Amino acid sequence: MRKNMQTQASNGIKVLVVDDEIGIIDSLSIFLKKSGYIFDGVTDPLEAIEKVKNEHFDLMILDFIMTPIHGDQVVEEIRKFNKELYILLLTGHKDLAPPLETIRRLDIQGYCEKSDKFDQLLLLIESAVKAINQMNMIKKINDELKETTQKLEQAYMESIETLRYTVEAKDPYTRGHSDRVSEYSVLIGKYLGLSDDDLHTLKIGGLFHDIGKIGIPDDILLKPGKLTPDEYSEIKNHPSIGVHILSNAAIFRDIIPIVKHHHERYDGLGYPSKLKGESIPYLARIAAVADTFDAMTSKRTYRDSLSLDIVKSEIEKNKETQFDPQVADVFLDILNNHYEEIKVIQEKYR
Ligand SMILES: [Fe+2]
Ligand SMILES: [Fe+2]
Repeated sequence: MRKNMQTQASNGIKVLVVDDEIGIIDSLSIFLKKSGYIFDGVTDPLEAIEKVKNEHFDLMILDFIMTPIHGDQVVEEIRKFNKELYILLLTGHKDLAPPLETIRRLDIQGYCEKSDKFDQLLLLIESAVKAINQMNMIKKINDELKETTQKLEQAYMESIETLRYTVEAKDPYTRGHSDRVSEYSVLIGKYLGLSDDDLHTLKIGGLFHDIGKIGIPDDILLKPGKLTPDEYSEIKNHPSIGVHILSNAAIFRDIIPIVKHHHERYDGLGYPSKLKGESIPYLARIAAVADTFDAMTSKRTYRDSLSLDIVKSEIEKNKETQFDPQVADVFLDILNNHYEEIKVIQEKYR
């Protein structure tokens, strides 16, 4: 008579059993396949590590005392490249089990003593599968969320980019200005040793720092020659207009301080908030140096671009009044010793 050994429909969970006793592998193979698991088994713990490197498994059940390395060492190796694998440890006698501290440190999710019956192991596997399914579900939702957020951010970026190009298209003298300010700011940030997050904020902040100019009338924005005091105070509204434009999108939250405060001066005589010294947001102090440098090195209707020597002495002269002295010094160092990096940016956005 045929034994009732049909394999249940697969539940899609891939299990790797590692035990140097082939008998255990064989009986677990029969038992797990019958319960609907996709089974693989190896007797060599080193081979198990390679397998996990090259193939996806949801669950690993492994023996503790093995040669040439023990189960905890197998886990130690695996955890170096895989933190997700759910691991159950099989121990022989209680006295031979690894200490609880090791089990926790290696992120082993459960252990059970070997016995002829698999009841306890089955319970453990069932709860493992529940946890694995939860984990997979959360991962899937997370991935989907990430993708949606990325699409949204992309759409926001594109619409604001359009605005930015509208500003720069109007005025040939500011064309490329935001791109250069963005890159100069990141360059200064790198020499200041800022984090990747801060560098990203500087990059985006530089691109959009003058977005508020969209709200300044063309006859003022494009006026050749000197502005009247009234016209100048109109121009001074562009940081606040910029903040207003960007404030509806959460993704621009981090760059708001740059947009709002890139015209503050270190001595407190800037605008719009007359902030002084270190009360000016740090990234805005960096963007301020980059912004002024680009203004000085760009042609205007009423003057040619300034020579590098004049620009350097202006920055030197105005540190502590207009600029954060530390930021100004770092920038002067770039101009003196790493000028090729500035040139690359200027060539790119000519
Ligand atoms: Fe500005
Ligand atoms: Fe600017």
